[in-house]
Amino acid sequence: MTANYKRTLVIGASSGLARAIITQTLQTPDNHVVGVSRALNSIDHPRYQHVISDYDAELTIENVGSDIEDFKFDQVFCCVGTLHDDVVFPEKKIEDLSPTQLNHYFQVNVVIPSMWLKKLPVLLNKKTHTHAVFFSARVGSISDNRLGGWYSYRATKSALNSLIKSAQIELKRRLPKTALVLYHPGTVDTPLSKPFQNNVPNGKLFTPQFSAEQLLTMLPTLSENQAPHYIDWQGKTIPW
Ligand SMILES: NC(=O)c1ccc[n+]([C@@H]2O[C@H](COP(=O)([O-])OP(=O)(O)OC[C@H]3O[C@@H](n4cnc5c(N)ncnc54)[C@H](OP(=O)(O)O)[C@@H]3O)[C@@H](O)[C@H]2O)c1
Repeated sequence: MTANYKRTLVIGASSGLARAIITQTLQTPDNHVVGVSRALNSIDHPRYQHVISDYDAELTIENVGSDIEDFKFDQVFCCVGTLHDDVVFPEKKIEDLSPTQLNHYFQVNVVIPSMWLKKLPVLLNKKTHTHAVFFSARVGSISDNRLGGWYSYRATKSALNSLIKSAQIELKRRLPKTALVLYHPGTVDTPLSKPFQNNVPNGKLFTPQFSAEQLLTMLPTLSENQAPHYIDWQGKTIPW
């Protein structure tokens, strides 16, 4: 079940989770969905518009943002994030830390989402209750860190959490009907989790469709009064 949102923006629209969100939100009659991604995706629907952006610089995001700000979105999802790619792989020990890795993780996991956070005041509909969801991860919790490792990925998700916490305080004045949400989707079967799926207990590797549905079902219940919400796929609050 999804709420009756009319305008949805999905950033990082090629990600496994983003595609599940787009497909499910398009099931709401009259909902128009805009996806932003570095690449084309194969979603073909009369109420779906795809915008290509390499999000390389603030200017690029500024330009894409200006193209779509007339939509006045009710919900925004920022799915951008990397755990491993051709530049980075999560560190096992402190000797693996490198400026190249740290810079890349910060660029993708913090700088790009922050530049979209900055656009929320012009992108969101101020007249209705709105949600902006940033994909975080449980490993971004500082107090819940029992295993260590994955230094840069953890640090960048913690940094994203901190930014969203500060932003909510400011938005209580500027966008009083907006709730910011940091979502941990569980371990989901997407390219991001592929190298680590052998360690996942039976029944705990979710499909993108399941994790997206969990989020879309709970979203209307997340009020701006208690925001920001740092929650997992069950709707349980994660300690900061
Ligand atoms: N899958 C999991 O188990 C899991 C668990 C916890 C948290 N998460 C979080 O959930 C979010 C979505 O992940 P996913 O599992 O759907 O991963 P995915 O399929 O690998 O998608 C990764 C997303 O990040 C963007 N991205 C990756 N590298 C980038 C780069 N170098 N520059 C710019 N954008 C880049 C991609 O954007 P384009 O559309 O432009 O390609 C894509 O939207 C991430 O923030 C991730 O940290 C996932």
